[in-house]
Amino acid sequence: ENRPSVVIGDKVLLSPRAHPERTFVAYADRKDLRQDAARGNLKIKVSAKIRDAAVKGARFDVRFTINRASLEIARQAVLHSNELPLGLLFPSRPTDNPRQELVSGKIRPINFTHQKGNEINGLQREAVEAILKNDVKDAPFILYGPPGTGKTETVVEVILQLVLDARKMSRVLACAPSNTAADVLACRLKRELRFSHHHDSQKMIRIYSTTREYGEMHKDLKECSNWDGKKEMFFVPKRDQIVNKDIRVVICTCFVGGQLRDFGVKKGDFDLVIVDEAGQATEPDCLAPAAAVLGDSEGRQNCGRLVLCGDPKQLGPMVLSREAQDTLSKSMLERILEMRAYKKHRGKYNSKLVVRLLDCYRMHKDILKLPSRMFYENELRAEGPPHDRLQNWNGLKARGLPIIFEGVRGKDMREGNSPSWFNNHEVEVVRDYVKQVTAGAGIRPQSIGIITPYRKQVHKIQKALGREFQDVSVGPVEDFQGQEKLVIIISTVRSNRHFLAFDRAHRLGFIDNPKRFNVAVTRAMALLIVIGNPRVLSGDLHWGALMHQIQEGGGYVGMSLKEQSPDVGADGENRDTFEDYAEEMGDVDEVGISNRAQQEAPNMQRDF
Ligand SMILES: Nc1ncnc2c1ncn2[C@@H]1O[C@H](COP(=O)(O)OP(=O)(O)OP(=O)(O)O)[C@@H](O)[C@H]1O
Ligand SMILES: [Mg+2]
Repeated sequence: ENRPSVVIGDKVLLSPRAHPERTFVAYADRKDLRQDAARGNLKIKVSAKIRDAAVKGARFDVRFTINRASLEIARQAVLHSNELPLGLLFPSRPTDNPRQELVSGKIRPINFTHQKGNEINGLQREAVEAILKNDVKDAPFILYGPPGTGKTETVVEVILQLVLDARKMSRVLACAPSNTAADVLACRLKRELRFSHHHDSQKMIRIYSTTREYGEMHKDLKECSNWDGKKEMFFVPKRDQIVNKDIRVVICTCFVGGQLRDFGVKKGDFDLVIVDEAGQATEPDCLAPAAAVLGDSEGRQNCGRLVLCGDPKQLGPMVLSREAQDTLSKSMLERILEMRAYKKHRGKYNSKLVVRLLDCYRMHKDILKLPSRMFYENELRAEGPPHDRLQNWNGLKARGLPIIFEGVRGKDMREGNSPSWFNNHEVEVVRDYVKQVTAGAGIRPQSIGIITPYRKQVHKIQKALGREFQDVSVGPVEDFQGQEKLVIIISTVRSNRHFLAFDRAHRLGFIDNPKRFNVAVTRAMALLIVIGNPRVLSGDLHWGALMHQIQEGGGYVGMSLKEQSPDVGADGENRDTFEDYAEEMGDVDEVGISNRAQQEAPNMQRDF
């Protein structure tokens, strides 16, 4: 999966087959890098010397090198964390910090005021006030809660309050571990600023990493990003392009946030650092933006506030190194939530430090039911609009139930020696549903999201949808954390139970991964369609329960749940034992780890 993971500028080593003792250096070229890599191609830049010396048809061995940039940013974060007050890392007895408000005057809600019937709720308001009053020093503020409860929306409200306050001129750095989550935040803020009659591009800047390409930028954010149209690349902004009287909010990934110091930004330039989806970041990654801009080397205490938002029950940090598992796989959000000051006392949280949201505005009540029971002790409450737009759609299998499970008996396949999996049968079913909901129910392609665990399936689906449906979002679940769509279609791919041992050993796919399940099924607002092999999915506690709930409601179609048929290998041959498959997967070492399978983790992709 996305192996080798190459970004623009990565070093590649070439050795001619005829002269293996010689090594030349080349660099991954900028244009269309990701699309090419998906097809197994890579454009590289070589020096004129090599180019001239190259003989047509000459063969080279290619070695990819590790890009240390993200590790270096994490290391810097740890190094500079001693410039932060100790309480920001280990809050114990937070001290009062009176008269440090980040806004002037009384706080009046801004977000949603243009949307009839919507308004910020009591708990959201409590969080906004606690953050902006800023009357506790040396302790981070935590905003957490289940999916769709408006954590990101509350962050947007906080930023709006700051940005639209002409007197205090506070500045905020808002980050997220992934580019998609940073884009969600930036797009919502931009929309609200537009409604508030402000020239959004003057107030905010969305800084993308210079390793990204044009096609990876959200098209609504071009005007307020660091894209250089003439040079056709993202530029490295200087301090005065970030810290000036117009720009009041910077939005970027935690990685770029950690680089701001290198761009010339100084401590004290920002009053507030917010990390959304903080549960998905390792602690050094989460700390990177705070360590770059908060605190100061003299250890003064008034250093600006850190706010962490997220949900520890959704995807956590992805740590592949076994040595690092114990220390890095718990996020800072999760660690701090375990501390005494952040727990309930006499049935109540200290709202100066932590607010937990519970009203869910995103999902139709039937979509919300199962995740609420499985992950949130049935506490999740359906609020806001009923999301019943598709409740009377004639494509539903059970009247009024906007969830469908289509059981298919597809085939897990790979192409050539690619380590990634796909399932053509499911690709066809996905395309049919996209056609049905767009033509039959009038849903726009941009309101549809397709989630699937393997990159190859992502590409196959994108190809099958073609230009007509190019605005449908297709991606692995990691890309969807923080997002929502009116319609979500999940293609689970695995059709062969014998491969599950591999998936389990390497945390691949959807099976035995409750956090991936939770995120995948909580993105849909009005319609959720799951496509998969019931024999494979019924072996998993969560998918099995979802399938049976849908079946009981009458929303199940396709392959009979009782059907007993042998598993089919990639070549169409029946397979009997795990060993048969192990051979097919290749490279199994003594602890049962397949090098190929290791390469396959979809979320190993570095998101700069
Ligand atoms: N007070 C509210 N009134 C009406 N709609 C709301 C309110 N708060 C949030 N929403 C809507 O609910 C949906 C989910 O909100 P949001 O994406 O902020 O949730 P989240 O908690 O960040 O979810 P996730 O955990 O998936 O990131 C959005 O469409 C948002 O506009
Ligand atoms: Mg969110």
